[in-house]
Amino acid sequence: NRNRLIDGFGRQINYLRVSVTDRCDLRCNYCLPKGFKGFEEPSHWLSHEEMARLVGIFVSLGVGKIRLTGGEPLTRRGISDFASMVSSLEGVEDLSLSTNATRLAGQAKSLYLAGIRRLNVSLDTLDKNCFASITGRDCLNEVLAGLDVAKSVGFSPIKLNCVVQPGVNVDTLHALFEYSLKQDFILRLIETMPIGETGRAARYVDVTKLGADMARKYGLLPQLDDTGTGPARYWSMGEGLANFGVITPRSQHFCERCNRVRLGVDGTLYLCLGHEDCVPLGALLRDGASNSDIESTILTAIAAKPERHHFNTQPDKVIRFMAQTGG
Ligand code: GTP
Ligand code: 5AD
Ligand code: SF4
Repeated sequence: NRNRLIDGFGRQINYLRVSVTDRCDLRCNYCLPKGFKGFEEPSHWLSHEEMARLVGIFVSLGVGKIRLTGGEPLTRRGISDFASMVSSLEGVEDLSLSTNATRLAGQAKSLYLAGIRRLNVSLDTLDKNCFASITGRDCLNEVLAGLDVAKSVGFSPIKLNCVVQPGVNVDTLHALFEYSLKQDFILRLIETMPIGETGRAARYVDVTKLGADMARKYGLLPQLDDTGTGPARYWSMGEGLANFGVITPRSQHFCERCNRVRLGVDGTLYLCLGHEDCVPLGALLRDGASNSDIESTILTAIAAKPERHHFNTQPDKVIRFMAQTGG
């Protein structure tokens, strides 16, 4: 085992989420405020080469799974070139992308050729008006077209991330599940997290219960053995791949098996989604630090990774917006 990234609670960190931009072409109500413009200065953004150097150091320390996130990663210029740089690093065995899919139709092919295989797409509803009121833009058709192209290009699995908000999209979940089943996608229902003022303002519903109700209604079987590589718990229609899952940070947290940390667009290392603890690796790199300086900074940081989030008891802890760390 070449993994040197083990935190103070014995957890192996083998998954790095890389935010390639903090900007987004949507304004999902639980993520970014309407009209928000307070983004990171592009001069602070790491170049693709700088970011790939940081990613390479994580890979040399034992990270094998990389996910590209944002903001909206497909708004970043040259994103497939960056994906190619990452997928060609020796030791990267899994390269994935989380996107809102507004620009996916035009980019799916080149992203696939760059080595991305697993795709997670944010989609909260198939109701056009509901979609527009959540995201601030009437572009559901672009998203659905993007999903069609992604499927035909060969991405697998394709997961749909649905953030559940009572009084907003709950009544539209069955239609979304039926669509995802027909398309062979995996629908995941997600509880809102109090990240930034927008995340805190979004209403919360217990998705553990909602998911169990859905599973019963559709006769799904729990996949008890499959804890997967992430926070989701899954069900399936029968043998084989999961069809449905839940991500329940608030009703049933999963921090004891956390395997991940995050890099912001400026190379800031965020140690936990539920804390502001971070280390400015990008600034260190620009100060001329050597790879071994950066390595030892990473090792020290990982050793101090917080044990868990406190979303239920201390919802005011995280001030940054979700788009800074990509979830
Ligand atoms: P897979 O590798 O496919 O399992 O992806 P993922 O679920 O880890 O990533 P994705 O970007 O699709 O995120 C789905 C949801 O899970 C988002 O709401 C994320 O914010 C949330 N999420 C991902 N990692 C964590 C985590 O470590 N802690 C918490 N609380 N939520 C997380
Ligand atoms: N709570 C839970 N999930 C969120 N996402 C964005 N903001 C929040 C929030 N406040 C989700 C998006 C996307 C994923 C990466 O994070 O829906 O699918
Ligand atoms: Fe953009 Fe994703 Fe945030 Fe929605 S959830 S505003 S698509 S970064």
